[in-house]
Amino acid sequence: MRASILLASALGASVFAAPASPTFNPDAASPGGLDSVAEYFNMLATKVQESRNMAAAPVCDLSKAQQPIAAPTPLPPPTAGLVLKHVAIGRGTQNYTCDVKNATAIPVANGALATLYNASCIASTYPDLLNTLPKVALQFNLTDAPKMAPSNLVVSGIHYFTTATTPFFNLDTAASKLGQAQCAKNASVSAPANAPKGQAGEAAVPWLKLMTKSGATGDLQEVYRLETAGGSAPATCAGMPAAFEVQYSAQYWFYESLPKKA
Ligand SMILES: *[C@@H]1O[C@H](CO)[C@@H](O)[C@H](O)[C@H]1NC(C)=O
Ligand SMILES: *[C@@H]1O[C@H](CO)[C@@H](O)[C@H](O)[C@H]1NC(C)=O
Ligand SMILES: *[C@@H]1O[C@H](CO)[C@@H](O)[C@H](O)[C@H]1NC(C)=O
Ligand SMILES: *[C@@H]1O[C@H](CO)[C@@H](O)[C@H](O)[C@H]1NC(C)=O
Ligand SMILES: *[C@@H]1O[C@H](CO)[C@@H](O)[C@H](O)[C@H]1NC(C)=O
Repeated sequence: MRASILLASALGASVFAAPASPTFNPDAASPGGLDSVAEYFNMLATKVQESRNMAAAPVCDLSKAQQPIAAPTPLPPPTAGLVLKHVAIGRGTQNYTCDVKNATAIPVANGALATLYNASCIASTYPDLLNTLPKVALQFNLTDAPKMAPSNLVVSGIHYFTTATTPFFNLDTAASKLGQAQCAKNASVSAPANAPKGQAGEAAVPWLKLMTKSGATGDLQEVYRLETAGGSAPATCAGMPAAFEVQYSAQYWFYESLPKKA
């Protein structure tokens, strides 16, 4: 059917996963977890209707995407001249270590590991739906499935750390190779007060602006972590093991420099 072709195009084939996905974690302590999943499917239903009413197929045009602004403190904007290359939902864990002998010690960040899922078309077409995705994704346990529950977003890359302070992004894992980059933090702001909490009520990790280091490929220059959900460590190491993970999700926005004209 024509309508369903248009829709698949609009949502980057993100739709039609059943809410009763077997990996849904109803025990997650996240307040409003069930509400956020319901909100996602209600919004999806509205988008289905909207896209049926569209005269022409929506185009997956990243120049139309608007980066979320962190209130009350915005991050520095992307450097002038850079172009949005990709938007992904990251779903994984933030890692921490603790001095188990010291209950007042503060947990230390020790990298992260997340799968990146291609959300470029949703970012360019349905930003409100995009902004529900980190919160919704966090209601589902991590799996090896090639799609991000409860959506049908497909893998576009992987994110981990190459040193304790060097986040790394590999966007060469999918069919379209967008590049790889080690990064350094340029700016960090607290997530908004109403940011989604984690599976056990953890605060959302800060929003970040990262700059790529030399050696980056695909002309990748800047990476933003936005609309975070969960991921923060507890305030102290009391009762925590020497190493632990906190579940999180976030949007990642990747910017590239355009190749110089010859
Ligand atoms: C999700 O993960 C939690 C915590 O590890 C576990 O208790 C629960 O059984 C898992 N749920 C499903 C549906 O796999
Ligand atoms: C425990 O951690 C706190 C906070 O970092 C620090 O002030 C204190 O010196 C530590 N105590 C010991 C015994 O290491
Ligand atoms: C993301 O999805 C869009 C639309 O299907 C596609 O054009 C693009 O190549 C994908 N990007 C990656 C990195 O997979
Ligand atoms: C962030 O990037 C801007 C622009 O390149 C630079 O002026 C500033 O010094 C950087 N700040 C940090 C903390 O790296
Ligand atoms: C932390 O992250 C790494 C990936 O970089 C992972 O292999 C490891 O199991 C994670 N968890 C802990 C508790 O170290």
